[in-house]
Amino acid sequence: MNFDFYLPVEIIFGRGRIKSLGEVAKRYGYRAIIITGRKSAKENGALEKALGSLKSWGVEKVIVYDKVEPNPTDKIVNEASQIVVEEKIDYIVGLGGGSALDTAKAVSIVSSNEGYAWDYVNYPEGPRLIPYLNRPVICIPTTAGTGSEVNRYSVISNPIRKEKLVISHSLNYPKVALIDPELCLSMSPKLTAITGVDAFIHALESLTNKVENVFADELAIRALRIIKEWLPVAVSEPSNLKAREWMSYAAMLAGIAIDKKRVALIHGMEHPVSAHYPNIAHAEGLAALAPAITNFNYKGNPKKYALFAEIMGYEPKPEKAVSAVADFLEKVGMRVSLKELGVEKEKLERLAEDTYMLSRGLFPINPVEPSMEDILKLYQQSYEGF
Ligand SMILES: [Fe+2]
Repeated sequence: MNFDFYLPVEIIFGRGRIKSLGEVAKRYGYRAIIITGRKSAKENGALEKALGSLKSWGVEKVIVYDKVEPNPTDKIVNEASQIVVEEKIDYIVGLGGGSALDTAKAVSIVSSNEGYAWDYVNYPEGPRLIPYLNRPVICIPTTAGTGSEVNRYSVISNPIRKEKLVISHSLNYPKVALIDPELCLSMSPKLTAITGVDAFIHALESLTNKVENVFADELAIRALRIIKEWLPVAVSEPSNLKAREWMSYAAMLAGIAIDKKRVALIHGMEHPVSAHYPNIAHAEGLAALAPAITNFNYKGNPKKYALFAEIMGYEPKPEKAVSAVADFLEKVGMRVSLKELGVEKEKLERLAEDTYMLSRGLFPINPVEPSMEDILKLYQQSYEGF
């Protein structure tokens, strides 16, 4: 057994824990910015709770930056970073779904160093960024899926280049993940399914890719068991707090698993989809691609796919993984094709080229290393539905 495990994120988990935001944040200074989406944190009361807690612990200034949208852009990161610098902000609170959290983390990197968001995608580890300069980030998820609250990734879109790339750097970890499952109660069944499927694919891809890390595998396995049992419950009973609690926990486990083991080809092929079609939610793209890619992948890591099939309640055979994925997506109302999502057939070749150019860093760890032809074929298979 040979593995590394480093997680510099303090996790504060539990029902109602958003109340402790002010107390936790106090350590990091007096001037805060809350980075959030346009609507949901206001409508579900999370923003009010966060502001109330900060104020009761004597914060001097809080700016609410509420322009984050799904598939967050480099432009938004740059704009918020400028405000952070001008207003001499001490620490950053990300409040919302994956987009708000990814943006908050990227704003810390950009505002604490120089340049723009796009300078930091695929940025190498090394001494050029100075750790102690980085502004602390507190992530408060209001969905259960992304896992961004516990990992080093920020996925950022560049609408001009039609590219969606990742800031993946050890300075991009939040300082604190404040995970309060009650904040997920107001998610609609559809949003619950979409975000839950993201966590499901994180667990599937981290478990089955070629990176060896037995400890991270345990997290992915546990996440899959929980998601199998509790995501359908959360979708059909949105106010079931126990289901919300388990899903917040599973998304966190899967978020740590991908931090240690990364993802694989499903994510690699999805990013070009939502880069070209920003109205497609990340996990809808994942759901459309997952069955065909699982069918392509299972021979490359038969033991892990057999284990996955078994966890999902199927015979422990690698080929059963394909129906295990497809049936589960069906069960939570996420069995979709690229065509149904609005992808144009003539775009498939461009998507394949983009995957080949922009996601090839993932190819060596994918269970089966794909060729350009394989990728095009997988898009074609996912177009009508596999
Ligand atoms: Fe994801």
